[in-house]
Amino acid sequence: MAIVSLANAKGGAGKTTAAVLLAAAYARKGKSVLVLDCDRFSSATEWCAKAGGKIDAINGVTASNLAEHLRRNRGRYKHVIVDLSGASDMLIALASGLSDLVLVPVQGSVLDGQGAVHVFNLIEMVMQNTRSRVRRAVLLSRVNPLVTTRSLRKVQAMLGEKGIQMLATPIVERSAYRDMFEKSCLLDDLDPAKTSNIEKAIANMTALLREVKTFIADDEDAQAPYSGICYGEERAAPPSKRDPYRRYAVTSLAPSLSMPSA
Ligand SMILES: Nc1ncnc2c1ncn2[C@@H]1O[C@H](COP(=O)(O)OP(=O)(O)O)[C@@H](O)[C@H]1O
Ligand SMILES: [Mg+2]
Repeated sequence: MAIVSLANAKGGAGKTTAAVLLAAAYARKGKSVLVLDCDRFSSATEWCAKAGGKIDAINGVTASNLAEHLRRNRGRYKHVIVDLSGASDMLIALASGLSDLVLVPVQGSVLDGQGAVHVFNLIEMVMQNTRSRVRRAVLLSRVNPLVTTRSLRKVQAMLGEKGIQMLATPIVERSAYRDMFEKSCLLDDLDPAKTSNIEKAIANMTALLREVKTFIADDEDAQAPYSGICYGEERAAPPSKRDPYRRYAVTSLAPSLSMPSA
């Protein structure tokens, strides 16, 4: 069960759109998908419920129940997509440690870039605490298909300077991605008479899925740094000798929390 989280501390960066598009792209390939929806507006869950029922979703997911949802659904789905909310650092850090891949949507705005840097800093903390690696990359979203704007170039330079990896495939700005939500349907079910470039949107998602697959194996299971939180002793691979801190991932979050004195 491969787990991909969409994270950006900034609202409006494109997390929910990317989560739904990715889930739909997997479902289109006949893969079973579960969306764990941490967004308080439950937009992804609503869309999943209405859009043909091919994709299951659970809403109301928080830092206190995320691991439990993953544990309960382990093996029931080939793919889990976590649509994070930007509001909680704890949730972003926990989900990052539980994910096989964290994608950070960034639109061409410096504010989105800053929200992304915040996520990468949280992931850095998780990696230091667990002495293991979290696979992660920026996913440029809502990119103009015709021109590279000055602000997008600025964001790319800002992230590049920090050595942050970026997917080669962006999510292009398409009315099909908005209409899909408005009409609560899959890209394939949009009316070509009313929505332009549907086939280009589908090709964009096919390319994105192909690139995501280069990060995660088909049989990915319980390899993320915090997998022990969900699966305990049942986890697939015991911590290796080179990675002796994995098992103590739960307590390693504690130093960032200060306890009130009695
Ligand atoms: N690739 C895209 N093409 C067109 N509109 C997009 C695209 N990505 C995001 N949007 C629009 O941008 C807004 C914010 O996106 P959303 O996915 O809700 O962000 P977040 O979940 O990070 O808050 C929404 O109105 C959405 O329809
Ligand atoms: Mg959202």
